[in-house]
Amino acid sequence: MLATLSITALQLALAVLSPAFAVASREQQPLGVDHTATQKRVTWDEHSLFIDGKRLFVFSGEVHPWRNPVQSLHLDVLQKLKAAGFNAVSIYFHWGVVEYERGVFRWNEIFDLQPFLDAAKEAGLYVIARPGPYVNAETTGGGFPGWGTRVEGLWRKSNKNYTEAYKPFVREFGALIAKNEITKGGPIILVQVENEYSGFGDGIEDFEYEWELLQDFKDSGITVPTVCDDAWLGGHFQSVDIYGWNSYPLGFDCSHPEVWHSAPPDYFYNLYNSRIRKHGPKSILELQAGGFDGWGGAGYDACGKLIGPEFERVFYKGMYGSAVKVMNLYMAFGGTNWGQLAEPGVYTSYDYGSILREDRRLRDKYYELKLQTQFLAVSPAYLTSTPWQLTESRQIEILKGTRNIVLTVLEDTLDLHTKFYIVRHKYFSKFDSINYRIELKTSIGAITVPKADHTLELQARDSNILLVDYKAGETHIIYSTAELYTWKEIDCFNYIILYGDPNEKHEAAFKVSELKDFSSLDTEEVEWTYQIDNAILTVNFAILEDGDTHTIKFGNTVLLVFCREVASKTWIMDTNPPAIVKGGYLIRSASIEGSHLNLKGDLTQATRLHILATKSVKQVTFNGKDVDTQPATDGWLYVMYTPELPDIKLPELSKLDWKRADSLPEITDSYDDSKWVTASNTYTPNREKPAVKEVLYASDYGFHSGNILWRGHFTASGGEDGFWAVVQGGQAFGYSIWDNGVYVGFWEGDVTTGRHRCNFKLPKSWESGEDHIITILQDHMGLEENWTAATEHFKAPRGIFDYGFNGASPKLVHWKLTGNLGGEKYLDIERGPLNEGGLYAERQGWHLPGFDDSDWKEGSPLDGLKEPGVAFYRTTFNLDVPSGIDYPMAIEYSNSTGSYYRSQIYVNGYQFGKYVNSIGPQKSFFIPQGILNYNGKNTLAISLWAMQGEGAHLNSLDLRILGKVEGGVGEIKNSPAPAWSERKDAY
Ligand code: GAL
Repeated sequence: MLATLSITALQLALAVLSPAFAVASREQQPLGVDHTATQKRVTWDEHSLFIDGKRLFVFSGEVHPWRNPVQSLHLDVLQKLKAAGFNAVSIYFHWGVVEYERGVFRWNEIFDLQPFLDAAKEAGLYVIARPGPYVNAETTGGGFPGWGTRVEGLWRKSNKNYTEAYKPFVREFGALIAKNEITKGGPIILVQVENEYSGFGDGIEDFEYEWELLQDFKDSGITVPTVCDDAWLGGHFQSVDIYGWNSYPLGFDCSHPEVWHSAPPDYFYNLYNSRIRKHGPKSILELQAGGFDGWGGAGYDACGKLIGPEFERVFYKGMYGSAVKVMNLYMAFGGTNWGQLAEPGVYTSYDYGSILREDRRLRDKYYELKLQTQFLAVSPAYLTSTPWQLTESRQIEILKGTRNIVLTVLEDTLDLHTKFYIVRHKYFSKFDSINYRIELKTSIGAITVPKADHTLELQARDSNILLVDYKAGETHIIYSTAELYTWKEIDCFNYIILYGDPNEKHEAAFKVSELKDFSSLDTEEVEWTYQIDNAILTVNFAILEDGDTHTIKFGNTVLLVFCREVASKTWIMDTNPPAIVKGGYLIRSASIEGSHLNLKGDLTQATRLHILATKSVKQVTFNGKDVDTQPATDGWLYVMYTPELPDIKLPELSKLDWKRADSLPEITDSYDDSKWVTASNTYTPNREKPAVKEVLYASDYGFHSGNILWRGHFTASGGEDGFWAVVQGGQAFGYSIWDNGVYVGFWEGDVTTGRHRCNFKLPKSWESGEDHIITILQDHMGLEENWTAATEHFKAPRGIFDYGFNGASPKLVHWKLTGNLGGEKYLDIERGPLNEGGLYAERQGWHLPGFDDSDWKEGSPLDGLKEPGVAFYRTTFNLDVPSGIDYPMAIEYSNSTGSYYRSQIYVNGYQFGKYVNSIGPQKSFFIPQGILNYNGKNTLAISLWAMQGEGAHLNSLDLRILGKVEGGVGEIKNSPAPAWSERKDAY
């Protein structure tokens, strides 16, 4: 401790004396408050994390590997994150899918995390591992396994039944993490324990549980620092190494994407210092980067708009104002709730409105974010900065009387010079811009800027970071009112990129030794002045419209002024020396070989790239092809590249030869349910006891997902003329009922109802002594989450809670049920436990490729059924997509108003869509390459559950290309798609 303190004092002394030394030491030496790491690679102090002794801002994006079952696509996502300037990726694990049967761990092929971790390393990203055991994540059971519903007592609590249940998972996955830690050459730098351990059903934060879980992870071999993600800055779970918290300032109502109802959280800093015992780096483990959307919701483009570029500017900069140094964006790439991964609140797509769409294309907000990641990556002074304590009246003084701007000033605690002035609107949700002047405290005194005769403009829903005494390498920026994108030293020049919005007027001042070299490569637009006495160059400029750039040279500095649009589409390549590439949809990577600069990337259209690279570069290649390379002005090269985007012949799905079979033989007289499970339990470990004697909860019998079928066998007393039931399936579920094969009725489902009571008239009143079978086909929308700790919410039953008859009471023989074939001992090991539900077709494996449907009748889902029931349709088609391009595709329905049906899509055996016609909103179901075989045969199957009396049919069904790029990540390996083989025990 003493040693650390003296280093700090020495550093501070030297920092004041010598700014140059301060920059180097700032990056290298921990200041020592919480430097208690048990390994040497990842350390930290109150300001930031260090990796191998070097400070960094951890800029991470959340991805859930299990929401993308194509291993070879991970690299594409990860390279896109890297190109956006992230240096880390954070991942949740999913206990429920890897230990579906208690004690049996299966993380073969598609659920194996190793390929993802390897891809992260290949892409150059660190990994934050978040293994749970609870994760929430809008996934079934919040990641808890279905068998857990039978484990008595409170979960996420030191209840022995629960702790015994999680331990094997923690051992297994702790060991996987340990093996992939940075200390062993892997990418993992941090491990989050539990998830939002913040709200407690019994009101008690269970420290014993926290300690035990932490210890269990450590016992499995984990040595990198542990973190938590408190749901708010509430001070929970402080026994981890680094306290972290989550923030979703705008919530999840995507239906009003213009409405911002919550304040940017820039008051965190003081709250943190007063609440948190061990002051580590300010760490936000989940910062809103989109929103989930529920059944009947507004759709993900609306979420992408709500949490769009403006949100990124205002709210993320608010975080920097609180000196946050570890920041993980939830989600960076959401992926798909394929199979039955969803919890009841959400549908198949988990696009999340993120910077990367579900189909891996880039949203606009991707580019805005890049402006921030690159700025932070070149701003070491930020890493040791803390905010000033500024009263409102002092802010108003600094802002020269402007009252509607909130100001945060961060000052580097090491060199005591560099400052970041962050301005944002007080009424941040309004749409007005504000003009202002501001007094900056610089090393040459307090200066009110702009000195020139104009004001600064804070645009509506914007926040700007003004710099003071900022060292961009050898260049000393005394101040800049325009924001900094990056600075890079290439050959003997230091290129500094500033940006702003078109027509804004800005001012920047630089310390210069001589001004004789000053030149502007622009024409009359640039005004500049300088004060020769103080060797200060002050430049005034207006931001030009899209495309045009100011270039101003002085000494070895080249100042480039871009408009926001151009800056955000400029790629900073980490070649040695670096290269700057202006333009293009995505530049993934670059390498220099002799006179060649080899770029890899994705282009959507003919694109002009402007390139600044080391002098020796004379020739550019793009995706391996030589491109005509022309010198432009002042060392830049430019190339024009026209991507090859060949037309692809897609099958017209509606015109294919479709085969059809009935998938509800269970309602016929001859159907034999002797192999079904008999619901004979009269005791349930579930806290929620049924209203009837027999337990009719699917999970009690090992069925946790997909459709569930119930058959109640009764002997009539005579006079039964009505049937009622309370059925539970989770939000948006539905069900249909038959009596001896005669249709009784249905509940179509709605957005909010998870448990529904029906009361139907029976088609014919029963005669005494008659045998009757009541068949109920119900949907299972996933297990509930268990956000509140010390509760059992995820155990909410799926099945029949209560039922009875009107008119008379028959004698119950027994109830039988089935879900997926095998239940927890599921058959399709390759596609995983949640892929199949309980439909007859699924139990038989009709959704799988290679099933012989030659004796099926012809019939298309567009013809559908004329009566209530379930039909299953199969077809095949070929694709022949050349390599070197990335064309994501989707299967799309169109809505037929007033028709109640549910339909599922299976591509090569993988369930990749659950459509509810009357609820929506999702109609377009993205099917990733690797599930869709882009070079060969595909088997497409569709289930159609017609609920209403007159049956139902699909209006249309199309395969559509969502976007076209040349580029992509290279060869995509198809995920295992084992063919049908006979299922002897299928029923
Ligand atoms: C957080 C939770 C995440 C996710 C998110 C909303 O509270 O930690 O797992 O559920 O909310 O998407």
